[in-house]
Amino acid sequence: MIAYWNGRYLPKDEIAVSPDDRGFLFADGIYDVVRAYEGRLFETRAHLDRLGRGARALRFKETDFLYLADVAGRLIEENKLAAGEATVYFQVTRGAAPRTHCFPPPETGLTVYAAARPFAPHREDIENGINILLLSDPRWARCDIKTVGLTANVLANQTARESQARESVFVRDGAVLEGTHTNFFAVFAGRVVTPPLTNYILGGITRRVVLGICREHGIPFGEEPIFEADLERADELMIVGTTTEVTPVVRIHGRPFRSGAPGPVAVRLQKALREMTR
Ligand code: PDD
Repeated sequence: MIAYWNGRYLPKDEIAVSPDDRGFLFADGIYDVVRAYEGRLFETRAHLDRLGRGARALRFKETDFLYLADVAGRLIEENKLAAGEATVYFQVTRGAAPRTHCFPPPETGLTVYAAARPFAPHREDIENGINILLLSDPRWARCDIKTVGLTANVLANQTARESQARESVFVRDGAVLEGTHTNFFAVFAGRVVTPPLTNYILGGITRRVVLGICREHGIPFGEEPIFEADLERADELMIVGTTTEVTPVVRIHGRPFRSGAPGPVAVRLQKALREMTR
């Protein structure tokens, strides 16, 4: 597999990360994941704009990351991923320099990595729905930045796996926020609701696309807090993201939610999203 490493295209296993890299030492970096459908990248610009916003939030050296769209295209080509489905992963760190908590010397270059790989979505989950856990959110207060500091997400996702659940959804002060790698949606009396953009969730690209679908299809929607106690009144729940698309939630902590089957709004959103991506 050919990957991109600081301006060069190299066999992935020839890439060696410095032990001084601040991504390695401090998780001082950001990342993003883009889907490719039959070689066509979906919403690349939005993902790279988010990477740029993350870089500014972390006060990285001023950089325009839009060139990574061409990098992604070349990785798809070089790795013969133009037929079928793939993901492209981007990661940027503050670079490699002797360890200090403050920023490294100004001449330190950012470390930029990108790699493409085949991706098979969990079709069964998307069709039949999944079991989730609701877990107290132990993360820091800048969940809007897509940093590689994902330990809390890793632990929560592993807890889900060990409980025969597919995803854990974080709850802070009673508010249901987002999953370990997904945004959260609910349907109340035909109205689609997702938590508002705050520092406690990632501004998901799929979230935005789904809200756009609601607007276009005349489905009522709102960006409002969802409290755990509100879930009793919800007709449908979903998680959405680049890798999960629109996945219905049909069980919580193993207990069936409503009928235990995907609801009509989820199915409608899935169909509309599929039409946009295929
Ligand atoms: N995760 N919330 C969190 C915490 C995420 O990590 C992600 C994406 C999302 C959904 O965002 P988007 O629709 O832009 O993919 C929400 C990626 C896919 C990952 O970590 O692999």
